[in-house]
Amino acid sequence: MAATKSNQPRRVMAFVFTTIVVGLAVYVYYTFFRLQMGGGAYAPFVKIPYVVLWSLLAYLAVRLVNAAIFDFAFRLRRGYEAPTLVRNIFSLIAFTILFVIIFKVEYADVNLGALFTTSAIFGVIIGLALQDTLGNFFAGISLHADRPFQVGDVIVVGDHVGVVESITWRAIKLRTFQNHIVLVSNSNAAREAIEVSPRNNLNARLVFFGTLYSDSPAKTIHVVREAVRDADNVSDKITPIVRVRNFGDSAVEWEIKYWLDDYAKYNDTDALVRQRIWYALRRNGLSFAFPTRTVQLERKAPILPIRPEDQIADRLSAVDIFAPLSTDELRQLAKATAVHVFAPGETLIRAGDEGSSMFVVHNGRVAVQVSERGASRTVAHLTDGNFFGEMALFTGEPRTANVVAVQETEVFEIGHPAMKHLFETNPDLAESISWTITERQADLAKGPEASPPSIAETAGVLSSIKRFFGLR
Ligand code: CMP
Repeated sequence: MAATKSNQPRRVMAFVFTTIVVGLAVYVYYTFFRLQMGGGAYAPFVKIPYVVLWSLLAYLAVRLVNAAIFDFAFRLRRGYEAPTLVRNIFSLIAFTILFVIIFKVEYADVNLGALFTTSAIFGVIIGLALQDTLGNFFAGISLHADRPFQVGDVIVVGDHVGVVESITWRAIKLRTFQNHIVLVSNSNAAREAIEVSPRNNLNARLVFFGTLYSDSPAKTIHVVREAVRDADNVSDKITPIVRVRNFGDSAVEWEIKYWLDDYAKYNDTDALVRQRIWYALRRNGLSFAFPTRTVQLERKAPILPIRPEDQIADRLSAVDIFAPLSTDELRQLAKATAVHVFAPGETLIRAGDEGSSMFVVHNGRVAVQVSERGASRTVAHLTDGNFFGEMALFTGEPRTANVVAVQETEVFEIGHPAMKHLFETNPDLAESISWTITERQADLAKGPEASPPSIAETAGVLSSIKRFFGLR
């Protein structure tokens, strides 16, 4: 593995220091021992330290060239780290060549080739002792030649799944999703089928769920696809596919196929997708299927938890614009109110869409965001008792901003007909709402430093509300 950036200077220093020391040792040995003994007349064993010192120098030179080629040139040109196995093979061959040269210069009369080829004992030792090692080594070479995967890819080999950290002459090193290290020997890997999910590839996942037979398939497809497509790490290059897998005993069985930007995070993304499905089904009156007995119970109970009207009316009475309403009016409004729950990160309102309802935050927190020059700016955070979505509802204009849930958020949705009825019985309501709308319009246009809206601006908004709702 390559040196980390922080200890690189220390390693360079150690390298330079060792090179100087070994170089000096070669020089000292040469001047004081060999020259004084007179060229060639000394005993062969005197040459041994000399050969060892030169071999050390050769080893340091090989490391230097290895670093220059693989740490510098290779990474610069290819953009990723060179495989450890290739580096090791390079070092081994380069060092062997240098060692043979050094050996030949010092012991010209010894025939190295004959020594290796004729030694039956040597062959037997290599054959037996290094059987597994050589098997791994050659399997590693064939893995590199095929290039079926690279560092950073997710692979499944045998029972193991993980991200490839390195491929050495002995084994493939995997980091599992429990952050453990698994070493799969090259020869085992060569025998197994390996499933590769390359890093630079759009890899897909399947997530399964089941719904009631009474739920509309078309609606389920639409709702689930929209809920999943803007989840983090779900690629926006391919739209997720939602399809029926099977008609099961007590459920319509579905699968959703989606593609990931970063496949190594598929556990988290699967979980997020399931969470999004849960919220989307619940919000849209669709239900997960359970064994038949549970289905019967579910039919009796409404799918959305219907809150007691009084509880909703209670919350609405705390919203400043609804303060003038009587208890009866509040209860009527509560009856016409739908309850929705959104997951953190889900978009409740999209800028530019048409809007025919407004929302009151019952509990949770949302962010109002506008996009400016490609970046998103948060204009406001709204929490319990705040309302939003009134601008499009009351003016008939498209939605002015995105509203995104910051945490799990429960909202009450009030539609156009309910508001029209209120305006007719409560003309003052339109006026107080027009103040809020004018203030928010100024915020959007000029930011928080905007000066308070003028009476003329408010009057303009009020008359457009009246026109839109056909009020006098
Ligand atoms: P609407 O335009 O229907 O949809 C986006 C909503 O964001 C908008 O209505 C307002 O309710 C809300 N909004 C816009 N600007 C602000 C702001 N400055 N402060 C609070 N809420 C805002």
